[in-house]
Order: sequence, then structure tokens, then C-alpha cells
Amino acid sequence: MKFSDFSRILFFTGAGLSAESGIPTYRGRGGVWKEYDWEEYACQRAFDADPEKVWDFHDERRRRIAAASPNDGHRVIAGVRRRLRSTSVVTQNVDGLHQRAGSEGVIELHGSLWRVQCPRERTVEENLETPIRSRRCGRCGGWLRPDIVWFGDMLDPAVVDAARAAIAACDLFVAVGTSGEVHPAAELPLAARAAGATLVEVNVEETRMTPLYDRVFRGPASRVLAAMLG
Ligand code: OAD
Repeated sequence: MKFSDFSRILFFTGAGLSAESGIPTYRGRGGVWKEYDWEEYACQRAFDADPEKVWDFHDERRRRIAAASPNDGHRVIAGVRRRLRSTSVVTQNVDGLHQRAGSEGVIELHGSLWRVQCPRERTVEENLETPIRSRRCGRCGGWLRPDIVWFGDMLDPAVVDAARAAIAACDLFVAVGTSGEVHPAAELPLAARAAGATLVEVNVEETRMTPLYDRVFRGPASRVLAAMLG
């Protein structure tokens, strides 16, 4: 199977794509949620109880990601998109590595660690500092928070609509490095199925969504994606 057999490709990516950049996935061995209890670090309740502790955790993630580089998997995707402008990237990743590899127009379902929100003023700003210089809003003095989707948060409906519109138009849906455990993102392959696309899973292991896919490629994302260049 080659990318050149298709004209509207959609990459749906998860933490496994960034694993080869040295960034831990969330589930499985060495996963973030094995080491850290999300109820203490990744929900609004935890933030309300102890914002400094939650910020320390996210600052450390930002530091680690800033020190990492995109890998060949990110680069293959960026290259496909450069050659075929109808290509879309919908990611659950908050690390910004797609963009650093050169992908434009990335639809970030779970937000970005490189933006901060002021919930009081309802503003969002880019912030690339590691560590962040001020955890408080420069205007109102309230706590800033990372502009990512924590457990229990709603996804931004406009972002979900953009993802669904892109999926409805694709003829090849390539899920890369995602466990399919987190909803509503995990339902997006069903939308691709409904749209009549060919569904491909790229993962080092079986997932609960595997039976849904037409083709399954087992192996690290960088190698499998490079092979699909033909
Ligand atoms: P997970 O950690 O749940 O799953 C990562 C997947 O990547 C697993 O299925 C692994 O088998 C696979 N994998 C690992 N290394 C790989 C490699 N080199 N090549 C290909 N596949 C590999 O990550 P996600 O599915 O992205 O939410 O998790 C979804 C969401 O759960 C995340 O966006 C995050 C988390 O809570 C937020 O941050 C809001």
C-alpha cells in the first residue's frame, strides 16, 4: 500500500508517533499515566486544588518536549502534506512536533502545551517558555492554565467539527500510534468508515480499534510510514 494510490489522505496521530522522539506515551509500559495519577495532575479539580503542582508537571513535560526533536514519522507526514496539499493531520498530541517537522494546518484535538489560557478572561496565547516565566495572567492576575484538554474537559466543538469535516473528505485514513482508548477521539475512525475511506492502522501492537481497520501494519511509526512512501 502506497500513499500515492490515494488523493485525500488523513493522518490521525497519537502519542506513539512521538515515542521515537523519546517522549513517553500515556498508556502501556513507561506510560505517563502509569507514573502519574491523572486525577492529581490532569483534571480541573487537581488544578483548582494545587495549581503549582499541576504546573510543575506540565512545565516538566514542556521542558522534555522542547529538548526533543521531531522524528522521521513526523517528517514523512509533513512531506506527504507538502506534496499533496489535500492531506490533513488530526492529532491527539499536545507536543507540537508535527508543526516543528513542517506540517501546517494541524488539527489539535486535545490542544497544545505551547499555548496557555486565562480562563477568567477567556484568552489563549502562545507561550514557548521553559519554564514558563509567569503562571499568572499579566492582566488579571488569575491563574493561567495549559491550553490542553484535561480529563473531564470538553473538546473545542470547532476543532471537532474541523476534524470531522476533514475525515468526511478523506479517501485514506491512517491512524498512527494511538491506543483508541480516549473518547471522543477514538470514535473518529468510525466517521472515516462511514465516509467510505480505506482505514489503515500503524501501531507496534494490537489496539481495541484494530478490528475496524482494513489494513494493519505492525511496527514503529517511522519505519512503517517511510515504507508507504513507496
Ligand atoms: P496512548 O499512550 O494511549 O497510546 C499510544 C499508542 O502508541 C499505543 O497503542 C502504543 O502501542 C503505540 N505506540 C507506541 N510506540 C509506538 C511507535 N514507535 N510506533 C507506533 N505506535 C507506537 O496514546 P494516545 O492514544 O495518543 O490526552 O492517547 C490519547 C490521549 O490520552 C492523549 O491525547 C492524552 C491521553 O490522556 C491528553 O493529553 C488530553
